[in-house]
Amino acid sequence: MAPVQRAGIVVVIIFWLIFIVLFASFGLIVFLGAPFVPTKSTDIDEIFDELKIRKGALVVDMGSGDGRILLSAVRHGYRALGYELNPFLAIFSRLRLRKQPDAKIVISDYWRGDVTKASVVFVFSATPFMARLYDKLKAELKPGAMVISYGFSFEGIKIDQKIGSANIYQF
Ligand SMILES: C[S@@+](CC[C@H](N)C(=O)[O-])C[C@H]1O[C@@H](n2cnc3c(N)ncnc32)[C@H](O)[C@@H]1O
Repeated sequence: MAPVQRAGIVVVIIFWLIFIVLFASFGLIVFLGAPFVPTKSTDIDEIFDELKIRKGALVVDMGSGDGRILLSAVRHGYRALGYELNPFLAIFSRLRLRKQPDAKIVISDYWRGDVTKASVVFVFSATPFMARLYDKLKAELKPGAMVISYGFSFEGIKIDQKIGSANIYQF
């Protein structure tokens, strides 16, 4: 085989490998949770400005995307932990938060993530996952913990407060 032909095949293989990895990270995630759609940054700040959360409280983001919730949380004086399955988003957000010692991103499935120490859990998910999320949070959160569900609500559960598109629940 001519060197030019071989180089062409290598380029095609690399292209397909990149495509498969990107598709698995951004596309196949829909079987485990919501795809990446970021919360509006101004909405996050408004939510944290309005809620009276004690400084130093642990805020957990279930699917932390590009890290914007975590960044806003540490800027408001909270500790922040994000579970994110997409390695590209997790690495991007780790770089974004590299100067924030109070923020941590774990590359992991949030269904396996520990939320028992959280004072606040932020959820931006999708309708098919809300009932399962409620059951997990109800079983694991300490009494008095707060859940902020952006854009979606838990069916049949009373919303304690609304801030823009966010539904706030006291567990
Ligand atoms: C709708 S986006 C929200 C991102 C971020 N929380 C925000 O509000 O800007 C959902 C995120 O959850 C991640 N995700 C979906 N299912 C997941 C799972 N089972 N474990 C960890 N992350 C997951 C997606 O990769 C995506 O980044």
